[in-house]
Amino acid sequence: MDLIRAFARDDIPGVLELFRWAFAHNGHHAPPGIPLDTYFERVFFENPWYDDELPSLVHVNDSGAIDAFVGVQPKRLRFRGRRLRVIAATKLMAAPTAAPLVASRLVRHVLAGPQDLLFTDISNDAARRIFEVLGGAATLLLYSMQWQRPVRPARHALSWLRARGVPAVVTQSLRPVAAVADTALARWGPARSRAASDGYSIEDLPLDVVAKRLPDLLPSRALQPEYDEQWLAWLLGLAQQMDPQRVLRRRLVRDAHQEPVGWFFYRVEPGGVAEVLQLVARKDARAPVFDALLLDVWSTGATMVAGRLEPSMVREMSTRHCYFRQADYWTLAHTKDSEILDAILSGNALLSRLEGEW
Ligand SMILES: CC(C)(COP(=O)(O)OP(=O)(O)OC[C@H]1O[C@@H](n2cnc3c(N)ncnc32)[C@H](O)[C@@H]1OP(=O)(O)O)[C@@H](O)C(=O)NCCC(=O)NCCS
Repeated sequence: MDLIRAFARDDIPGVLELFRWAFAHNGHHAPPGIPLDTYFERVFFENPWYDDELPSLVHVNDSGAIDAFVGVQPKRLRFRGRRLRVIAATKLMAAPTAAPLVASRLVRHVLAGPQDLLFTDISNDAARRIFEVLGGAATLLLYSMQWQRPVRPARHALSWLRARGVPAVVTQSLRPVAAVADTALARWGPARSRAASDGYSIEDLPLDVVAKRLPDLLPSRALQPEYDEQWLAWLLGLAQQMDPQRVLRRRLVRDAHQEPVGWFFYRVEPGGVAEVLQLVARKDARAPVFDALLLDVWSTGATMVAGRLEPSMVREMSTRHCYFRQADYWTLAHTKDSEILDAILSGNALLSRLEGEW
């Protein structure tokens, strides 16, 4: 008889086989810098917040083979001061040989779990349909948006042309002109002058500051993560290991009185796009923190910076010529508590990439 049960370490080889089939055609779901078996071990069993009551699930068919999987990653968030059990659901997959609706059954099982909130942030259209149809998961349009801002617009334009087939000899010959144009634009841009005149400074971000100071920076944010240093070190180590080509930078912004007013995490490689994983700013310091981000990204040689929309900073982003687009994936949430859902739908939640699927 077929059954759905908790994913165990011994199941890793069977799940890997399924993963290779399911995600072979869309490589961005595969963690490139880490062997797959290590990935499944680290992500699903070595999470410091591993919770027996919130397991990942496998479907085992009549012949005893695993033919479907859904990953569960426990997270901790607080809603108006109350600790919630939160899970990120990820890597939903079913073999082509699986019986009809097996993936849907797995999702139904996860949705019926003891968590207060389920969150998934890199869902494709197929997963979105299943989560919506079965459990009334809500698509979070705000958190499915991405912002982008060129920091070296001329260099970025050359990379864009190159990617569209313009010969390298042409784009290479234009690079000196592009470098001059980008330097001039950066010197006269708003970020540099404001950061210098207002006494804000940028330094490396210690993890204990993140764990302790988040509630001080976002006192009125209804839903926000609750971190500890061990979990942050584990997650950031994983993020770096999964993407070794890019450097993971974490930077703290202090005001003229040396008070922390915000921070950001991003992954970057010179000449490429800086991907922001989290951007946090005290209400009165959103503009200088965003300017500090732009300056810091500039210093790495990146041509562009992008991240998930942080709803509280739409104005700062807009006035600094960011543009917005729907990300390639959907962010979805499911909760039985309408107050939690309302807070998320109104943008009153910090749901950064760190809270998502890994
Ligand atoms: C996505 C994937 C898991 C779906 O597997 P599947 O076996 O087709 O899923 P199911 O048989 O359970 O569901 C099939 C359909 O029935 C629908 N369905 C399920 N229960 C239903 C119900 N009670 N009422 C109405 N429709 C229902 C689902 O919404 C889905 O609709 P769709 O075909 O329009 O998308 C599978 O295709 C896969 O592994 N893909 C590759 C990996 C992937 O992309 N995963 C998602 C990552 S984000």
